[in-house]
Amino acid sequence: MSTTTTDAVPVLTSVEDTIEQFRDHGYLADHRMGTTVFLQTRLEKPVLLEGPAGVGKTQLAQSLAEVTGRRLIRLQCYEGQDESKALYEWDYGKQLLYTQILREKIGQIVSDTTDLTEAVDRISAHDSVFFSERFLAARPLLEAITSEDPVVLLIDEVDRADEALEAVLLELLSEFQISIPEIGTVRAKHLPLVVLTSNNTRDLSAALKRRCLHLFLDYPGPERELDILRSKETGLRDALAARLVEIVRGLRELELRKAPSISETIDWARTLAVLGVDELDATVLSDTLSVVVKYERDMRRAGEALPRLLDPNAVVPEGHGHGHDHHHGHGHSHEHPHPHSDDDLDGREVRLAKDSPGRHDTDYYGAPGGLDRSRQVNQGQGSRSFAGRGARKRPV
Ligand SMILES: Nc1ncnc2c1ncn2[C@@H]1O[C@H](COP(=O)(O)OP(=O)(O)O)[C@@H](O)[C@H]1O
Ligand SMILES: [Mg+2]
Repeated sequence: MSTTTTDAVPVLTSVEDTIEQFRDHGYLADHRMGTTVFLQTRLEKPVLLEGPAGVGKTQLAQSLAEVTGRRLIRLQCYEGQDESKALYEWDYGKQLLYTQILREKIGQIVSDTTDLTEAVDRISAHDSVFFSERFLAARPLLEAITSEDPVVLLIDEVDRADEALEAVLLELLSEFQISIPEIGTVRAKHLPLVVLTSNNTRDLSAALKRRCLHLFLDYPGPERELDILRSKETGLRDALAARLVEIVRGLRELELRKAPSISETIDWARTLAVLGVDELDATVLSDTLSVVVKYERDMRRAGEALPRLLDPNAVVPEGHGHGHDHHHGHGHSHEHPHPHSDDDLDGREVRLAKDSPGRHDTDYYGAPGGLDRSRQVNQGQGSRSFAGRGARKRPV
């Protein structure tokens, strides 16, 4: 790590300053979020954001890039993702093009050989020409490591990635380096600020969690959600926006397949503003319900609940506390994920089924540097480019 520069992030001087700067960039963070982000910039640890869809996880990383003036590099994870799409690939097309152009030269090299074996040997002596950085196509992880300027690396929805990719991430997150057998180990020029997000469709490994600062993002409290709504300039009057926030909070308490997120509150407010609504009644809300509720069964449930949610006794007048007997979802604890908030429930079930017992044991990846780890990491690498086939080893 001797060549790695530690880039302090001078722009963030304290937790309060962090919150303020995020606010200046349009992101409203609470104290807990501000603390985690501030600590991340000081401790140079990756942050893992977990929580339901639409609570501002991705946006937090994007805002971190804006606040720190760093470029954002994003790795969007998905099921079945090949590690070559995350790390690097050999640019096969470019290699081929060069061999075509250099056909004559290559012909000269092998001209005096007598058989195929000799010719192949002769060519392979020149492997390093074709497996050099010139022909390396960096994917987000390598790009973040080799970047000339400090970056924010967003590894988005890591819970969608397969375990093999998670194992690859471990090396990166603990060593900030990537080993390429044909070239060597590439160390980070500047330590990236790394943000991982997870929608909790499956548990992440203990080994991954151990390397990160951890933050659960949940739906915001009513004041912060209203603040966010105001900051988006939806065009909806404040008093109506406050009521709308309460109604959305009520909807989140229903057992919906997909609970409405902050972005949906924003969309609903914009919709109502466009319609020129100056009073929230059951008709206009149910007419526009599809903006916030996306499944037919949810529509029915939400539709039935609307009159109750609209009941004056259930609505908090502006500027007052929550003295009413109606309960508005303050019970959303930060400790538990929202089973109904994932926007990809089918995928979730599939992955849950795949989640083999015991896989999250602390020892799954072995102790750092242990043999187990390298064995695990080497699994699933056969699908790398032809160059790396069989040749690729990771440092232990
Ligand atoms: N704290 C916040 N401040 C400002 N806007 C927010 C905040 N949280 C969420 N949002 C809004 O909600 C939208 C959805 O957030 P996003 O980051 O995409 O959610 P997630 O990645 O958690 O699914 C964002 O584009 C942003 O407009
Ligand atoms: Mg996201």
